[in-house]
Amino acid sequence: MIKPTLRSVITGVGGYLPEDIVTNADLAKTVDTSDEWIFERTGIRQRHKAAEGQYTSDLATEAALKALAAAGRGPQHVDLIIVATTTPDLTFPSVATMVQAKIGAPVGIAFDVQAVCSGFVYALSVADGFVARGLAKCALVIGAETMTRLMDWHDRGTCVLFGDGAGAVVLEGQMGQGTTADRGMLGFSLRADGTKRDLLYVDGGPSTTGTTGKLRMAGNQVFRHAVVNISEAIEASAAVAGVSIDQIDWFVPHQANQRILEGVARRVGLDEHKVISTVSIHANTSAASIPLALAHGIDDGRIKPGHMVLLEAMGGGLTWGACVLRL
Ligand code: ACO
Repeated sequence: MIKPTLRSVITGVGGYLPEDIVTNADLAKTVDTSDEWIFERTGIRQRHKAAEGQYTSDLATEAALKALAAAGRGPQHVDLIIVATTTPDLTFPSVATMVQAKIGAPVGIAFDVQAVCSGFVYALSVADGFVARGLAKCALVIGAETMTRLMDWHDRGTCVLFGDGAGAVVLEGQMGQGTTADRGMLGFSLRADGTKRDLLYVDGGPSTTGTTGKLRMAGNQVFRHAVVNISEAIEASAAVAGVSIDQIDWFVPHQANQRILEGVARRVGLDEHKVISTVSIHANTSAASIPLALAHGIDDGRIKPGHMVLLEAMGGGLTWGACVLRL
């Protein structure tokens, strides 16, 4: 049945990786690890690192400008900016307000969302809430992180896994017919379980230590939760969207570990050829990894307008979630 429905549609995507590259071999000079171990366990070959004086808002701004150009829009059109980040320049103000000033967007709505690696999926759902209700016409949703600033460079179990980067999408309202043929967001599934906080956290903050702290993780336990939790969220988001897994054209997962994304694809019955994987080139960039992978798949010509795309992520909290959309 046709039911005119306002949808929030991705009209532009952009990614940015800082220039400096740190290879596995580079890390092996300072911690007891090897390219072989890292690649075999994670699929990671290298990560990018923000330069001194280059901040999360700078990476976010680069990605935002690329996404706006891809959408054929300018900063003057933007009335909502949401940045998903767990590594803001400052405790406040938000990175989103900094991006607003840097790109020269007019007075509008701007704030950050903090759900660690799941941040982009959470932020997209929040932006969808604004755009699909007509409260914003042109939104920038950005995932941006300088995760290398949270690393304990003596801890080989974590410092090899993360990198810096940013990705952004432009979301605009477009009328659809209320069916799965519509472009735009079709279904979300978001979850959190605060009882698992000790599996992955940062041991500092403004109200505890007064310092930024360093990332701590029980990697193998996180791994076990990831495959099960993410698979359940994918199935729930597909059910909300009213689509079956075999209707998905592209699986664009959070890029944490090649073994996690393959394990999830296997568990939910997704063809491995439909998986966009960029973890080898930029490691885990937390909230930035999904839009970075999306930009990659669009730039290399695989993902095209009209394709059905599945996004998913899990991160500290624990938080996790998935989204089905038509590009
Ligand atoms: N180089 C060499 N050896 C290492 C390294 C390293 N960089 N890191 C750990 N090891 C050693 C350990 O010390 C341990 O040695 P031991 O057996 O002598 O004690 C051995 O390797 C095995 O350690 P495990 O932690 O059990 O190794 P595992 O196979 O689980 O792989 C990894 C570790 C890669 C961290 C994996 O657990 C993982 O990817 N977990 C998911 C974590 C993640 O992606 N978190 C990101 C946020 S959550 C998310 O995005 C989904």
